Amino acid sequence: MNNLKSYIKNNKTRFIDELIELLKIPSISADASYKNDVLKTADAVKEALNKAGCDKVEICETPGYPIVYGEKIIDPKLPTILVYGHYDVQPADPLELWDSPPFEPIIKKTEIHPEGAIFARGACDDKGQMYMHVKALEFMTSTNQLPCNVKFMIEGEEEVGSESLGWFVKRNHEKLANNIILISDTGMIANDIPSITTGLRGLSYVEVEVTGPNRDLHSGLYGGAVANPINILTKMIASLHDENNHITIPGFYDKVEELSSDERAEMAKAPFSLDAYKKALDIDEVYGEKGYTTNERNSIRPTLDVNGIWGGYTGEGAKTVIASQAFAKISMRLVPNQDWKEITDLFKTHFESIAPKSVKVKVTPHHGGQGYVTPIDTIGYKAASKAYQDTFGKTPIPQRSGGSIPIVSLFEDELKSKTILMGFGLNSDAIHSPNEHFGIFNYLKGIETIPLFYNYFTELSKQ
Ligand code: BES
Ligand code: MN
Ligand code: MN
Repeated sequence: MNNLKSYIKNNKTRFIDELIELLKIPSISADASYKNDVLKTADAVKEALNKAGCDKVEICETPGYPIVYGEKIIDPKLPTILVYGHYDVQPADPLELWDSPPFEPIIKKTEIHPEGAIFARGACDDKGQMYMHVKALEFMTSTNQLPCNVKFMIEGEEEVGSESLGWFVKRNHEKLANNIILISDTGMIANDIPSITTGLRGLSYVEVEVTGPNRDLHSGLYGGAVANPINILTKMIASLHDENNHITIPGFYDKVEELSSDERAEMAKAPFSLDAYKKALDIDEVYGEKGYTTNERNSIRPTLDVNGIWGGYTGEGAKTVIASQAFAKISMRLVPNQDWKEITDLFKTHFESIAPKSVKVKVTPHHGGQGYVTPIDTIGYKAASKAYQDTFGKTPIPQRSGGSIPIVSLFEDELKSKTILMGFGLNSDAIHSPNEHFGIFNYLKGIETIPLFYNYFTELSKQ
């Protein structure tokens, strides 16, 4: 591509300023009080796609938040790339742990990002990564170098389960027809160790409720004689792992695909420093399923984690009370072949069965999705690999991620196309955490790598 590097260099400040404007809008999909901001962000994305050279851009209404759809079709005979991303963000709390307000983006240098990083909620997940695609398109259209057709589908409910997107995709097969789906919503190993995400874990997210007596009780008058729902809930949760950190739900591992020792050896070649990992998290030791490495534990193995737990008195001082109820939110990360609905049922049956008669248990499924693995012997993967080779000067390493983008397997089922996950974030970018950020280097490298992917994909599709 001509002038790719110089175009980015000349427009760098504007690219950063535009992203900063987008990051100022608190598009928190989980919290209904931000509804107007979420809608405002959809409008801003529509505007940005228009300016970047799409021929047609629409706000598509759904039962939930709208999907921004844009396209530029230059020749129906050429391949079509469908870009997916999300404009919603996670809630920013706990606010007091941010060094600067989450929706007042600032640029700061860090050890890992000596060129600076933009600090704001959504900087990396996913506004920054989604916007790289908008700017890459701008480059290709304004320099007349778009080699193929492109469609954009940017949703506003990814962080809450993508329900409306499922609804939209099922109804719009033709509109969304494509040869490959391209997503930047994952990460890579390090700025000098490029990698392409080849797998995502599935997810089952449930909420549990344990009810004891019909009201909060005096813990002296009743303590010891009735079940304390918090005691019971924590005991039930603790029993979900055995001493080897295996999950104890009957049938949970039945469909888990065991990797061959060759595949595991291949995985172990990816550069990884356990010491640096522990240091970055301030922990003395890692923890997890016996018999697996840290990288395996967080990619090819399923997990069960409590994400939040509450009940009883948590205010100032002490109140002597046995709460009537206790609650927890639990997520299970799943690997390919485990079906999230089946796992949700197994969890429910098991959790209800281990409850003593002295309490009532309710399990409410939230959302979930299947895992995904991308093959690497496809033209999509090859095109991505060549693009990284050009911009990073190194062949990217294929690596499975522990995170989930449940909609990817639905894309394959509904649209029959494969997804390429070109993520440019780093694990240390603190997505979903306080002080989320995205490196300027990563942002610009993404903008540079994407057009090359378009080129290689178009070229390889002709052969
Ligand atoms: N972008 C993330 C997923 C991700 C991040 C995958 C980094 C791989 C590497 C996405 O926005 C996300 O947070 N997904 C949720 C699931 C969703 C259903 C709420 C997740 O993984 O917890
Ligand atoms: Mn995301
Ligand atoms: Mn996320």
